[in-house]
Amino acid sequence: MNQQFQIRIKDAKAQLQAHTGAAPHEPAAGQVLLQVSAASLNYRDLLTLQGAASGAARDGLVPLSDAVGTVLAVGDGVRGWQVGDRASPNFFPAWVDGRFDPSHLQQALGGGNTDGVLSQKLLVSAQSLVAPAAHLSDEEAATLPCAGLTAWHAMFERGQVQAGETVLVQGTGGVALFGLQLAAAVGARVIVTSSSHAKLERARQLGAWATIHYGETPDWDQQVLSLTEGLGADHILELGGPDTYDRSIRAVASGGRIAQIGVLSGFNARPDIQSLQFKNARIDGICVGSVAQLRRLNQFMAQHRIRPVIDRVFDFEDSPAAYTHLASGQHFGKLVICL
Ligand SMILES: NC(=O)c1ccc[n+]([C@@H]2O[C@H](COP(=O)([O-])OP(=O)(O)OC[C@H]3O[C@@H](n4cnc5c(N)ncnc54)[C@H](OP(=O)(O)O)[C@@H]3O)[C@@H](O)[C@H]2O)c1
Repeated sequence: MNQQFQIRIKDAKAQLQAHTGAAPHEPAAGQVLLQVSAASLNYRDLLTLQGAASGAARDGLVPLSDAVGTVLAVGDGVRGWQVGDRASPNFFPAWVDGRFDPSHLQQALGGGNTDGVLSQKLLVSAQSLVAPAAHLSDEEAATLPCAGLTAWHAMFERGQVQAGETVLVQGTGGVALFGLQLAAAVGARVIVTSSSHAKLERARQLGAWATIHYGETPDWDQQVLSLTEGLGADHILELGGPDTYDRSIRAVASGGRIAQIGVLSGFNARPDIQSLQFKNARIDGICVGSVAQLRRLNQFMAQHRIRPVIDRVFDFEDSPAAYTHLASGQHFGKLVICL
């Protein structure tokens, strides 16, 4: 048997529902069967649930993209994976390496028509799998595939964050805290914004160089400029969307880069990009990352002994409560579900 959660749509409303069904079939050629031990939530999973009744997910979809499990069986032709190995599937299973192809979007785990990972047993393609860094627990490793990889891709695959450069991250959710930890590990000066003094204190303990309360300092872009002697931030993880984009453009340094990642205040950002021209600055569109990039992120985490920040771990049957907690915005870092 196999237990999972599904998004069920009834009377134009979507909700999570526990489902017990038959175990998946034996893995086909190129596939691996995983026993999932931990999964993590991302802001995207809230959007998927909230938007399911209007087409963001089909009725019966298994949600979530990020998980870690143990290999139970391997299909014909699979090389490099054996029963008992620990493995994590990539957010885009078919984006193995190289340039992004738009077809990968339809195959992202836990969205649209593609079942995700909130399932005790999971069939995945062997080419999508990465071995998590050995120093990470299953709960910690399950936080990497979306939030960790997005921050890594922005700052170290596309950007090349260097020691002494200034990095700005917005808020204290999953992507932002990975951004803080990864950039601080190479000696960058990380500025963190938050709506909570208590969270800013925790960010300083994690290595933030400076912190700004964006509720009390709504013109935080000016604060970034004054902290950097008028130069601005070399790298910005733009997570807020319409509420933050123009300020990110004002706060970015000449020659700097903004990673366009988030939609926390909506999808309709219409930033005024004119000044980027006179700064020789750029915007990089970032959409999670490839299997090869996830592998390099795990190597970096191992090299620097970085442990992801987990706010709370939920039991499998309490999965709906994990969504409620994410929606509350009270979390600092990642929410994990143990299966
Ligand atoms: N492009 C991609 O590939 C990609 C990948 C992953 C995530 N994302 C997007 O990135 C964003 C962050 O995702 P996540 O999973 O890290 O979210 P999350 O863990 O839920 O983080 C939410 C936190 O962001 C902060 N926040 C909320 N509204 C804000 C605003 N207007 N300005 C500044 N900070 C704000 C709050 O922090 P405080 O409580 O400290 O104020 C909140 O707790 C989401 O929009 C998500 O959809 C995109």
